[in-house]
Amino acid sequence: MAVRTWGLALLLLLGLGSQEALPPPCASQIYCYGELLHQVQMAKLYSDDKNFVDMSLSKDPDQVLQSFRALATAHNGSIPRQQLQEFVHQHFRSVGQELLAWTPEDWKDSPQFLQRISDTKLRAWAEDLHQIWKKLGKQIKPEVLSNPERFSLIYSKHPFIVPGGRFVEFYYWDSYWVMEGLLLSEMAETVKGMLQNFLDLVKTYGHIPNGGRIYYLQRSQPPLLTLMVDRYVAHTNNTAFLRENIETLALELDFWTVNRSVSVNLGGQNYTLNRYYVPYGGPRPESYSKDEELANTLPEGDREALWSELKAGAESGWDFSSRWLVESPNLDSLSSIQTSKRVPVDLNAFLCQAEELMSNFYARLGDDVQAARYKALRNQRLTAMQAVLWDEQKGAWFDYDLENMKKNLEFYPSNLAPLWAGCFSDPGVVDKAVKYLEDNQILTHQYGIPTSLHNTGQQWDFPNGWAPLQDLVIRGLAKSQSPQTQEVAFQLAQNWIRTNFDVYSQKSTMYEKYDVSRGQAGGGGEYEVQEGFGWTNGVALMLMDRYGDRLTSGTQLALLMPHCLAATFLFQLLLGFLSQ
Ligand SMILES: *[C@@H]1O[C@H](CO)[C@@H](O)[C@H](O)[C@H]1NC(C)=O
Ligand SMILES: *[C@@H]1O[C@H](CO)[C@@H](O)[C@H](O)[C@H]1NC(C)=O
Ligand SMILES: *[C@@H]1O[C@H](CO)[C@@H](O)[C@H](O)[C@H]1NC(C)=O
Ligand SMILES: *[C@@H]1O[C@H](CO)[C@@H](O)[C@H](O)[C@H]1NC(C)=O
Repeated sequence: MAVRTWGLALLLLLGLGSQEALPPPCASQIYCYGELLHQVQMAKLYSDDKNFVDMSLSKDPDQVLQSFRALATAHNGSIPRQQLQEFVHQHFRSVGQELLAWTPEDWKDSPQFLQRISDTKLRAWAEDLHQIWKKLGKQIKPEVLSNPERFSLIYSKHPFIVPGGRFVEFYYWDSYWVMEGLLLSEMAETVKGMLQNFLDLVKTYGHIPNGGRIYYLQRSQPPLLTLMVDRYVAHTNNTAFLRENIETLALELDFWTVNRSVSVNLGGQNYTLNRYYVPYGGPRPESYSKDEELANTLPEGDREALWSELKAGAESGWDFSSRWLVESPNLDSLSSIQTSKRVPVDLNAFLCQAEELMSNFYARLGDDVQAARYKALRNQRLTAMQAVLWDEQKGAWFDYDLENMKKNLEFYPSNLAPLWAGCFSDPGVVDKAVKYLEDNQILTHQYGIPTSLHNTGQQWDFPNGWAPLQDLVIRGLAKSQSPQTQEVAFQLAQNWIRTNFDVYSQKSTMYEKYDVSRGQAGGGGEYEVQEGFGWTNGVALMLMDRYGDRLTSGTQLALLMPHCLAATFLFQLLLGFLSQ
């Protein structure tokens, strides 16, 4: 609230015109907006803009701003690069000093699930992945609590697991797949601490920011907190934890209802669904020079809207992708981004699942009124998704384009998110999904499911494959009663595991994304590919847990053709029959 009020006050002070009327992404005149940020980022002192906004102050912000104004005056507004560099060295500390490495206290040798992995090479690799949690653990120093104005880092009481690489703070949706892996590693206490951090953030800000920095404050990320709590409670049977925090979970879902709803009028009916939407202006501080340069290609009056749409793209987790770009004349210009003008399938599937879980939670706690309310919300959303997003002929759901009032029929794994989220009423849709994948020739990609079929150079597009998207499709298909569909799910798991394992064998590293056209580390987008890597490890562990008796590390690639699959399946049936 304070941040928002402050931002509005600033706008009034500056007397900005209506077209500029978006508040800055957060309140700090150093980390969020202003001349100092502008000068330093545009001078490109660091190869990655995130570096500067992650540095902490060695003096109070007022002093830093005062010295900066003196320096700017001395150089009549244009400070030479050398002097700017010196200024930063004098007033800032290098990155990461406010974070301590943390070895999770509940880490232990040989968690049970490792025994379920038959292939000895895969088992040894899974042991390595289990070890990596110790490298990804972080704790925030108490000085961040006592002097928050000197840091962009948001203080969290409990230690947590980070994605890795440049991402040394928590990230919202990443944490779901991290937690799935941690629960397999029998680290429920670590998970509990991370959940408490998230719940604290909801109590403070009303929502969970994209990540643990103030410059991420006004945008969130795909809402998976309710699911995280469900996984933890299912694992520990900690009903008391659920009872203590159920209202905070409700508060987070209210944020999506109040701040991210959109009405779709179709065939004379109004449907309410959700979108990603971040009505805050200015370049993203952590990608400042890129956002500024991109904006300079547009008329001045369009720049604030562009920055807002870029932030909404970041909120979607898919930053960036052809999913949010306007088709004409082509998909390769990020300046055409229109994230908030789309109704995304995955976002609505996640919320549908959260509403179902809330209904179950309240029923478990004996509150039938709330249980019925969330059930009704879920049913309304199911109806809306069926009417607005579902396409009977194609057998999948599609993002709805509010501007052009039509579905985006391009392939994205997120189009099958409702299967994963259990957000459908006709069980037949799961088997239709296989045909949908075949129609788009997705099953011919031997190294993993691509993020799209467009090679735009953006990181959430072809040829990159991302671990969470593999999970969405694999566990969606695995819900089928049909052995053939289950077999497709297994083959997709085998492909992805083999890619992760082969690259790990060569590089001893796990990556945030992979190039599924060549079976290598991924690329593209705004920064270098990152190593670590929280959600990749989580998904690999989940797949090895689920299919550990069948997955192999073998290097020969199974050609995933439907008729091949059918033959394999019949062959296995025959073997099963003979062995009885
Ligand atoms: C300072 O900059 C202004 C415009 O930015 C210019 O008019 C003025 O001459 C400059 N003064 C000096 C001393 O360079
Ligand atoms: C959400 O909406 C409320 C009510 O309009 C507003 O006060 C709050 O600042 C919004 N939150 C964000 C993060 O934009
Ligand atoms: C979970 O806890 C409840 C009481 O809180 C108990 O009735 C139930 O048996 C427990 N279930 C398991 C699987 O431990
Ligand atoms: C749908 O919403 C629009 C404006 O949001 C309103 O004018 C219209 O009456 C509504 N239609 C129905 C059927 O509720």
